[in-house]
Amino acid sequence: TYVVTEACIKCKYMDCVEVCPVDCFYEGETMLVIHPDECIDCGVCEPECPPEAIIPDTEGEADRWAELNRDYAEKWPNITRKGEPPADAEDYRGMPGKFEKFFS
Ligand code: SF4
Ligand code: F3S
Repeated sequence: TYVVTEACIKCKYMDCVEVCPVDCFYEGETMLVIHPDECIDCGVCEPECPPEAIIPDTEGEADRWAELNRDYAEKWPNITRKGEPPADAEDYRGMPGKFEKFFS
C-alpha cells in the first residue's frame, strides 16, 4: 500500500485524488491520508503529487506514516474530487517539521 507523508501538510494539492481508481483518500484539515485496506497498490498517485508526499509503505521512513494513515482514514471523510489547494501551498512546500507545527 502507499502512504501520504509530511510533505502533504499545508500543501494538499489533491492531484492524487484525481487519479486514484478506488477513491481511497481521506481528508483532514491539513493533509490527506490513504486507507491501507482500500489502496490497491497501483502506484499511479505517487508521481502525481507535486511535493512527492506519497511513498510506498515499504520505504524506510514510512512506518510512522503508515500508522497515521490507518488511524485517520477511519476518522476523516472520504474525498473523491480535487478541491482548491490552499492559496499558500507553495510557501509550505518542502518545509521540515510541519507535522509538529501544523498537523490537525
Ligand atoms: Fe489510490 Fe493507487 Fe495511490 Fe493506492 S496507489 S492510493 S489505489 S492511486
Ligand atoms: Fe497531498 Fe500530494 Fe495529494 S500534496 S493532497 S498527497 S497530491
